[in-house]
Amino acid sequence: MIEAGTSANHTAGGIAPGGLPPAPLVVEHVSKWFHTKRAQVHALDDIDLHVRGGEFICLVGVSGCGKSTLLDIIAGLTKPDRGRVLADGQLVEGPGRHRLVMFQESALFPWHNVFGNVMFGLKRKPELTASQRREIADDHLELVGLAKFKHAFVHELSGGMKQRVALARSLAPDPRVLLMDEPLSALDAITREQLYADIQDIWRRRPKTIVLVTHNVREAVCLGDRVVLMSPSPGRIREEFTISLPRPRDINSPELALIAQRITAALKGHLVAARQAAE
Ligand SMILES: Nc1ncnc2c1ncn2[C@@H]1O[C@H](COP(=O)(O)OP(=O)(O)OP(=O)(O)O)[C@@H](O)[C@H]1O
Ligand SMILES: [Mg+2]
Repeated sequence: MIEAGTSANHTAGGIAPGGLPPAPLVVEHVSKWFHTKRAQVHALDDIDLHVRGGEFICLVGVSGCGKSTLLDIIAGLTKPDRGRVLADGQLVEGPGRHRLVMFQESALFPWHNVFGNVMFGLKRKPELTASQRREIADDHLELVGLAKFKHAFVHELSGGMKQRVALARSLAPDPRVLLMDEPLSALDAITREQLYADIQDIWRRRPKTIVLVTHNVREAVCLGDRVVLMSPSPGRIREEFTISLPRPRDINSPELALIAQRITAALKGHLVAARQAAE
């Protein structure tokens, strides 16, 4: 069991007793340039994005269209040159403990075992006692199906297990916003499918505002309430699709495949248009 004040006992509205509800996000007119010795890259152009508290958004686009840059700006890890980000109405000026990022590479600490890695995520919760932290870490390892591997070291885990540990580490501090940058792309198809089911289940039980970046349109349709398409040079939001398929969604369902096909066609159209405009 998890203590009150963390997310274990969510009410129907998704608000933990004593905890804070998932935070809405507002991205307003965000633009970003990178200056290198050789060139100036216009990475993002006038990005507007509104995410409701508890909503699951998937950002999709080809390599280099600015997805990670946008996620980093929402996280407060990178500053926009123009525009601003508000999380729960507050200006984002740097990283905050309520907004956590889960990267493509799990970035676990090799000198900690599985339990130690999840405990690390709880360091930013000074209000918890040591025993509460241990309890929360155990609960989250249970949640991702790794309770038995609590004492294993990172090098003893498969890629999928590492991503599960990273997921437990991201979820344990009960962030109000979880930002995921291609968290599953390094995994084999079967492991990925299991994690699609797990992520949907965890999100249902412990609501959060999630922004997930992916190249994979089917993955986006499987997970997202909304799929947001981006195109490159400069990175722009082109179109949004609301996905109203019932949950839990099966990545292999024909209905999902049909929607993914339509979105892929739209994505290709935007890419062609962006390339033509850049010529
Ligand atoms: N630190 C940086 N310095 C210079 N240019 C950068 C930097 N970070 C990103 N860029 C450039 O900004 C653009 C957007 O990069 P970004 O990493 O956000 O793309 P992405 O959509 O996440 O791509 P991918 O799908 O390959 O991860 C690219 O042209 C990239 O080369
Ligand atoms: Mg990226």
